Amino acid sequence: MDSIESYLKNNLKPKRVVHTYGVRDMAVELAKRYGEDPKKAEKAALYHDMCKYVEGEELDKRVRELKLSRHYLGNSALAHSKLAAALIQEEFGEKDPDIINAVSFHTTGRPNMSMLEKIIYIADAIEPSRKYPGVEELRALAFEDIDEACLVCMKNTRQRIKGAKQHMDRDTDAAIAYFESIKENRRDFMDFENTKAIAELGAKILDEKKAHDIVIIDISPKASFADYFVLASGGSERQIGALADELEDGFAKEGIISGGKEGLKESGWILMDFGDVIVNIFSDEMRSKYSIEKIWGDCEITEYVEGK
Ligand SMILES: [Fe+2]
Ligand SMILES: [Fe+2]
Repeated sequence: MDSIESYLKNNLKPKRVVHTYGVRDMAVELAKRYGEDPKKAEKAALYHDMCKYVEGEELDKRVRELKLSRHYLGNSALAHSKLAAALIQEEFGEKDPDIINAVSFHTTGRPNMSMLEKIIYIADAIEPSRKYPGVEELRALAFEDIDEACLVCMKNTRQRIKGAKQHMDRDTDAAIAYFESIKENRRDFMDFENTKAIAELGAKILDEKKAHDIVIIDISPKASFADYFVLASGGSERQIGALADELEDGFAKEGIISGGKEGLKESGWILMDFGDVIVNIFSDEMRSKYSIEKIWGDCEITEYVEGK
């Protein structure tokens, strides 16, 4: 990490160094939020703008060597990310493809971005020294829904590029279409007959995988953040993990995508957020320790009966 940092000091303007450390701090926070490796996020962030000041003939020479699109000639705004992706492999021996891609696509984005790619892309736009109208809202959004934050950011870029009559990279267009299709899928899931049907489907999936004490709590009269809680218990760490995986897969088949997962099987409590339905999978110990049913005792609690 020392050689990376001294490279930054020697090759970037002080303002860009401040920006780079801002991206690093933001990327590490986002990595913690989304269960990504903070060390990978740190490295990718430190690398991302290493070639920001390669310009003129040197830039074009590298663009040709790397066989990049002709649109990258004389366009350091686009090319610097590709140059950096090459440099980190050649000079710093970087081998992790996810880190290399996060650097390579930090300017344009692309469809099917990995979590690390999304983290670096959005951290670049919202790090603490960035100041533009809407940045605070985008910062908050990045921690709530990183896909939506990437989409908003890409649309801003598209507008800016159109306004300046610059070349719009086709990866960004494709990425916008990709994130819009994710959103469309989520909307389909909102079309589910009602949110209770989603809660019941969750209970059914957990029941089939032998969870016990499955209940559905209608929290809608008391809570604004969701309509239903589904609670279930698993007999071992392994089972808790398997229940969470099964639920994720089963819901994904119906186009219901988890908005976030908190906790680990080792901690005895996994919370999965499916919008209006929140599923909690507990170990027996954690289930009785937190006694969620008692907290929501005023609400209608339905025990899930097998085969219902
Ligand atoms: Fe950049
Ligand atoms: Fe940057």
